[in-house]
Amino acid sequence: MTEFDIKRVRALFPALDQDQVFLDNAGGSQVLGTVIDSVTDYFSKTNVQLGASYHIGQISNTKYTEGYKAAAQYINASPDEIVLGSSTTQNFMNLAGALRFCEGDEIVLSKMEHETNVKPWLHMADRLKLNVKWWVSPKPELKLTPANLKPLLSEKTKFVACTHVSNILGTIHDIRALADVVHEVGALFCVDGVSYAPHRQVDVKAFGADFYAFSWYKVYGPHIALLYASTSAQVHVKPQNHYFNPTNGLSDKLGFAGSSYEAVQALPHIVSYLGGPNPAPAFEAIAAHEGALQKILLDFLNSRSDVTVHGSSSVDERVRVPTVSFTVKGKSSKQIVEDAEKISNYGFRFGHFYSKRLCDEVLGLPEEGVARVSMVHYNTEQEIRGLVEVLKKVLP
Ligand SMILES: Cc1ncc(COP(=O)(O)O)c(C=O)c1O
Repeated sequence: MTEFDIKRVRALFPALDQDQVFLDNAGGSQVLGTVIDSVTDYFSKTNVQLGASYHIGQISNTKYTEGYKAAAQYINASPDEIVLGSSTTQNFMNLAGALRFCEGDEIVLSKMEHETNVKPWLHMADRLKLNVKWWVSPKPELKLTPANLKPLLSEKTKFVACTHVSNILGTIHDIRALADVVHEVGALFCVDGVSYAPHRQVDVKAFGADFYAFSWYKVYGPHIALLYASTSAQVHVKPQNHYFNPTNGLSDKLGFAGSSYEAVQALPHIVSYLGGPNPAPAFEAIAAHEGALQKILLDFLNSRSDVTVHGSSSVDERVRVPTVSFTVKGKSSKQIVEDAEKISNYGFRFGHFYSKRLCDEVLGLPEEGVARVSMVHYNTEQEIRGLVEVLKKVLP
């Protein structure tokens, strides 16, 4: 934590200079000033159709290529192993339309998910006549492990999908251990990293998943998303592009008409912020700071007998990221949020956050779901101590 200069970090995000405490970061994060400037610059000077050989065209081509390169390098992949699309939902839908399996093959889907990592595969199962098995880790564990996955696997299993971190529970799953178990039966493993990527370094080779996805608009950038597919997994991806275009890399196979140019070319700024030298906080420092933030909130929530924290109640940053969801006996999640808004500038939310199967079927919650406070590294300890004071007034 010694290297982490919160004042300096916050100064890099123009939106933070307002009378609003941003605690819906799992919904979408604030954007780095360098990214904003770069998008303005791109539109102002180099917004031309890619592929041209004239002067400005060449600059645009280079910026776009550099964006792809930086994004790939950031996750320890090659540019041929990624595609940048409009959202993770869209990227998964595109992948689901391109994968090939045989009738009667089995796929395993988790119920601890944002629907983005379910619906595309149900659609795929419908199209290819695959059988679906559901993977659940009931309360109180709520943790996807090799032990609860193994009984669902057999030689018939061809595809398994789960989240790295649930956008409700915040618990970090051991993707490497799960990947090893999935690969023992020769199946492909697809991981939704959307709620993980804002908090920790993504290293797809270390994780060992065949497909991995996240959205840059939650990682301090523009509204664009990354899908990784290892070179070996791409054998199963049928190219969806025009017949006369190349089919070598993932963006050839699943990149429809190019990604949003201005967003792609801005990605090196996020990479240099998160992975680069000063003033970029290294992820170790981010994790330590986030650990301090979640400890303040969780110590308060854990101290109350009328509060249920959904997911791990541990304050350890190796166990969870600071996405904290809770319900309170005697007060609805909606009412908590509305009452907090009446007396403060704290912006957090209630609901199922598209993890409806988790909220309904696993947690057994009413329609209003959880109250969710989702912090990132640019939040301050002072903000979270202030939130605790607000909650003291608002809770029964
Ligand atoms: C865990 C998780 N997965 C997937 C998504 C969907 O991402 P996108 O909006 O890029 O489709 C979200 C969005 O909130 C999410 O929280």
